[in-house]
Amino acid sequence: MKIEPVAGHIGAEISGVDLKEPLGEEVAEALRAALAQYLVIFFRDQPLDIPSQKRVTEVFGPVLRVPYVQPSKDDPDVVAGLKEAEERKIYVFGGDWHSDFSFLEQPPAGSVLAAVEIPPYGGDTLWSSQVAAWETLPDDLRAAVEGRNAIHVGAPHGTRYAPPKDMAVSKSIKMQRGDPAADEERPHPIGRRHVTSGRTALFVNPIYSVRIEGMSVEESRPILQRLYAHAVRPEFPCRFRWSPGAVAIWDNRATLHYAINDYDGSRRLLHRTTFAGERPV
Ligand code: SIN
Repeated sequence: MKIEPVAGHIGAEISGVDLKEPLGEEVAEALRAALAQYLVIFFRDQPLDIPSQKRVTEVFGPVLRVPYVQPSKDDPDVVAGLKEAEERKIYVFGGDWHSDFSFLEQPPAGSVLAAVEIPPYGGDTLWSSQVAAWETLPDDLRAAVEGRNAIHVGAPHGTRYAPPKDMAVSKSIKMQRGDPAADEERPHPIGRRHVTSGRTALFVNPIYSVRIEGMSVEESRPILQRLYAHAVRPEFPCRFRWSPGAVAIWDNRATLHYAINDYDGSRRLLHRTTFAGERPV
């Protein structure tokens, strides 16, 4: 197995592994260790059918059937991220910096994204290391947030942060709005210790964090805005150029990601599966 980092703080491309075949425990352990170190790992030329993708997902944790997003009609454990060629000037799934479902009591530990159909150019995805973000927080910002919780709520995605009302959303992705479980306020630590690596990551979510516990929305806003800007400083992300059969596996506890929507006129289809996580500490 060859592991080649793709950027200074995050991401490695792995070759010499066939994800289409069942993986032995030694290889599985090496992949888990690579994910803990690099936070997102990439593979090329691994066209996975859905059973193989679920088997790969289980290497990292139990497959999680995600709430609120309508799954693929082919399998309830798969979300099909699809934008059709004729869908222009629309909002796409994941088209803002975010981690997935941070408003849950136990947000997912990570996801596997497998490329099925890729535009000739554009449609890259970014991942930003929140370990690097935490380690480089300016002193005054660290003092303002250390030991504190941020409040995460699912609802703002449907109201404050959603695309403008007159802007269509890709029709393949149907988010259920107004779900009482998603609208519940959930406090999670802003500095989150990783259960595997022991490293601390910045854990705020530009889509779902609404305020800092114990502060009003107005008091929290300037602090959260600085955290969001710091979280995606150009030094912290890597950018992945997809190819058909490429696979990305990321750690949702210590990264933010962003699907770049710059490929109007081309079709893009990826299959996403998710693995379960624990309550953030
Ligand atoms: C997502 O999981 O947020 C979508 C990522 C992508 O389509 O690149």
